[in-house]
Amino acid sequence: MSIFASIFCPKIRHTRLTENMEIKDKVFEKFIEGNDIAKRIKAIAKSINMDYNGKSPLFIAILNGSFMFAADLMKEVDISATISFVKVASYNDMESSGNVKQLIGLAEPIFQKDVIIIEDIVDTGRTIKKILNEFTSLGAKSVEVASLLRKPLASSADVNIKYLGFDIPDKFVVGYGLDYDSLGRNLKDIYQLKV
Ligand code: IMP
Repeated sequence: MSIFASIFCPKIRHTRLTENMEIKDKVFEKFIEGNDIAKRIKAIAKSINMDYNGKSPLFIAILNGSFMFAADLMKEVDISATISFVKVASYNDMESSGNVKQLIGLAEPIFQKDVIIIEDIVDTGRTIKKILNEFTSLGAKSVEVASLLRKPLASSADVNIKYLGFDIPDKFVVGYGLDYDSLGRNLKDIYQLKV
């Protein structure tokens, strides 16, 4: 990955935040505070505002997981921009199914557009690779990725995430848009599976 590929991305601090959250049969512990998420989003938006100054990028948020990140990011973007939403069903329970399904709902023409994909988390990288290939083949002028989280496997998947929130360990997380069995998306903070 080029040194220009991603903006400065802090490692998560390892102090225990102690607050636990039970969702169904699992216990999660607080991992990233909403305030820290907000700070990173401001920094990401600042980079996007500079990089796309004079352009009018099309943001495409990948539902469902990115809805909160997308909303907060867009509030900090102060250049001319549009946003659209697509869905990719690719994940079952706590393990990536490996069957990345089709993109649903791409209503905008993306030919010759500067596209920024908004993702919640890149794990194996399969989902984002599929989307990147699809958008490139549809003739986008440029395609970059903004992802709130990245797990370690993604680094070996050779996916360039230009705008990254946090590198996290390979543990299941919920909150701030991310779910466990459809629950937990509404949490302001991000929680990590407690083992
Ligand atoms: P990938 O294709 O393996 O990179 O998986 C990406 C998708 O899996 C994300 O968009 C999420 O929907 C989901 N995902 C991956 N890890 C987690 C997690 O820890 N919590 C919740 N969803 C996850």
